[in-house]
Amino acid sequence: MEALGTYPTYRSRRMRQNEAMRALVRETSLAVGDFIYPLFVKPGKGIKEAIDSMPGVYRYSIDMLAPEIDELKSLGIKCVLLFGLPEHKDALGSEGYNDEGIVQQAVRFIKGYDKDMTIITDVCLCEYTDHGHCGVLEEDGYVNNDKTLELLCAEALSHARAGAHMVAPSDMMDGHTQAIRKALDDAGFVNVGIMAYSAKYSSGFYGPFREAADSAPSFGDRRAYQMDPANQTEGVRAAAMDIAAGADLVMVKPAMAYLDVLRRIHDELEFPCVAYNVSGEYSMVKAAAANGWIDEKRVVLELLLSIKRAGACAIITYHAKDAARWLKD
Ligand code: PBG
Repeated sequence: MEALGTYPTYRSRRMRQNEAMRALVRETSLAVGDFIYPLFVKPGKGIKEAIDSMPGVYRYSIDMLAPEIDELKSLGIKCVLLFGLPEHKDALGSEGYNDEGIVQQAVRFIKGYDKDMTIITDVCLCEYTDHGHCGVLEEDGYVNNDKTLELLCAEALSHARAGAHMVAPSDMMDGHTQAIRKALDDAGFVNVGIMAYSAKYSSGFYGPFREAADSAPSFGDRRAYQMDPANQTEGVRAAAMDIAAGADLVMVKPAMAYLDVLRRIHDELEFPCVAYNVSGEYSMVKAAAANGWIDEKRVVLELLLSIKRAGACAIITYHAKDAARWLKD
């Protein structure tokens, strides 16, 4: 105590004595404008289907989207990320790049319904292939990177034609950002952005999503194309490469277990980086809250704030609607 002197010792405590003073020295804030809300769409009529492992999250048919968009709007959420569950799956994921596909129809509907909603679309083949992998398979079961790139470009273009503001390739093929940027530019879609899933780790936290999107691989896993959770520097390097390749936003996914990667991208690359607070992270919190083991509101707001504190510019989160409500309280 002596060595520090009396004055500095109590300074931080004095600045914590009431909410107004805490607010004066608060470094990070959370606002509804930080949130991107994932939406699952599927063919059919009158469908609002609960996802067991993700309480509060649903799959919607397009005719059921309007009230959902209204709710998001009333809460101040202005950005959605669309995932599609197709009617029909095949080896090449052809519904993914069909102009009449489910995501394309949903984009057109949302655009027509609410011109102020920003629409980002997930670009990947795993929801559309019958084998559930993110690309075209070789006979040996290995994903063919370059054949997959062609299909991903077709998918991105199809989403752009439908009116998406931004595409988000989550497939983890090498060279996807550059290939998609070129395809979009060549077709005149210079204003359609790319949110690159740059540091996407091969993670157990995607489990509930794969139920939600019916996209679990039918054999093997994604370790040959998603990143090794042991690697931090590789995540930073992948983001740097995506920036060079033309990404408008880069991403770290999952969020909570990879805050160190976010912090490094923020500090070293000085480029906007989004964090994906993924399905497993959501389900863990919901399960603990349902059991009365944690205070859901407090924990969710703390987690989202931590993701911002680590350096995220925005957060894709299934908690967005609840968090938006709590931030208004
Ligand atoms: C598709 C994709 C996945 C997620 C987003 N896009 C699943 C995966 O890679 O297995 C996961 C999102 C979540 O868990 O919330 N490739």
